[in-house]
Amino acid sequence: MTTDNKMEKIVALAKRRGFFYLGSDLYGGLANTYDYGPMGVELLRNVKNLWWKTFVTKRADIVGLDASIVSHHKVWEASGHVAGFADAMVDCRNCKLRMRADHLIEDWILQNKDARQTVASGEYLTTEQLDTAFTLEKVEGWSMEQFDEFIKLFGVLCPTCSVKPPQWTSVRKFNLLFPVELGIVEGEGGKAYLRGETAQGMFVNFQNVLNSTRVKLPFGIAQIGKSFRNEITPGNSIFRTIEFEQGEIEYFFDDTKTDWQVLFEKWKESMWDFLTKKLGIAEEHLRWRPHTDEERSFYSKRTEDLEYQFPFGFKELWGLAYRTNYDLKQHQEFSKKDLTYANPQTGEKILPHVIEPALGVTRLVLAVLAEAYREEENRIVLSLPSHLAPVKVAVFPLLPNKPELVAKAREVLEMLQDAVDGKVLWDDRGNIGKRYLSQDEIGTPFCVTVDFQTLEDSMVTIRDRDSAVQERVAISTLGTYFQENLR
Ligand code: GAP
Repeated sequence: MTTDNKMEKIVALAKRRGFFYLGSDLYGGLANTYDYGPMGVELLRNVKNLWWKTFVTKRADIVGLDASIVSHHKVWEASGHVAGFADAMVDCRNCKLRMRADHLIEDWILQNKDARQTVASGEYLTTEQLDTAFTLEKVEGWSMEQFDEFIKLFGVLCPTCSVKPPQWTSVRKFNLLFPVELGIVEGEGGKAYLRGETAQGMFVNFQNVLNSTRVKLPFGIAQIGKSFRNEITPGNSIFRTIEFEQGEIEYFFDDTKTDWQVLFEKWKESMWDFLTKKLGIAEEHLRWRPHTDEERSFYSKRTEDLEYQFPFGFKELWGLAYRTNYDLKQHQEFSKKDLTYANPQTGEKILPHVIEPALGVTRLVLAVLAEAYREEENRIVLSLPSHLAPVKVAVFPLLPNKPELVAKAREVLEMLQDAVDGKVLWDDRGNIGKRYLSQDEIGTPFCVTVDFQTLEDSMVTIRDRDSAVQERVAISTLGTYFQENLR
């Protein structure tokens, strides 16, 4: 299986088995949007629940929040998004392809590594910048002039039409925020934005949380939910979409009492452990990538991306940034409200600093699928950890047209729906072999078959997804069996 091939297969499986479909599919699809189907919604929910349980429910120092998606324009002016949340875009005049300039160049570098020798430097691009771009295959933080210069210096062709000479427009900025107009009469309502990150909800509610709970520094506010960005580059299925879910934590601390470097390392450990120990992602498929000085946001003292090896290469999954107290400072200035924290012992007031682990939850779903996807001689299996599997157990009557088998199997189904923590499915279509294959494709850890022998000995056949081994188990012990084996 080639890597490209693997991505195509995952996307095909996702559509065929109800994980996700192109958004507005009925009307020809809406680019970079996806709808989660019956299997996808369970998987997404399981991933979100695990994140919430790990970082909110089980931690005494982190509280949750669910802030509004539509937010006041001042939130985004204060945060810097209105002025600076922009990507560089370029159009091909010939075929009308519109692309992000950094993606165009990064994709081109990947396929033209040898071209580095041909150009030493330019007016805007130094030798070091070109070396870094070709070594890291990353060009983040460049100016519009630098993007333009690279495209001209190396004669980058349009990946769609390859017209010669290339007919690119000059590179220009476009803002990623989605504005919305409020109010029913035009012009009456104020301007608002769909949130571009969940993070700002934590900053604008910082005082509300302080005033309504008994939190003490250091503490975190966590939120999971949708964010919106006007992405233009086609995004490798659910990897990059205009509507996606984030799981973010703003971890506030007093920078004179807590060493931010120690805290940063602790967060790196927690994020790594979550992916490897709770989600079962192989360590060799993960790596940390520190941001270069050019790439890092101006307010951040240190940023590192935890990258996953997707079928199309190592890409960002989870960012970790030390944002100092930039955001609280900005909101304090724009709102003219006091956002300081008063030390409960001394009364001393400070504006806390923050470390932010920012996860792409829908992107994590793609990573989980890529990690679980296996092809064997005669079957496709999603080897999902059982706590993530959309369906935990499937129950089959051996034959669908034998009322006594169907009645017994229904009894088992109802019993398991009570006993098992998660979805238990019924399937009586096709022969048993086909039903097994169908469950393997959606990652169901166990199948239970009720056969004629069951009517005599009250035992069923349990078949394990990964080993395909079958064993006979008494119906009376099924509850305990699954409590132990689905852990
Ligand atoms: N508050 C910081 C922040 O939002 P980010 O690196 O822009 O940082 C965090 O986003 C995570 O959100 C990324 O690591 C990525 O996994 C996910 N993400 C960002 N843009 C996305 C998009 N268009 N589609 C899907 N996931 C996205």
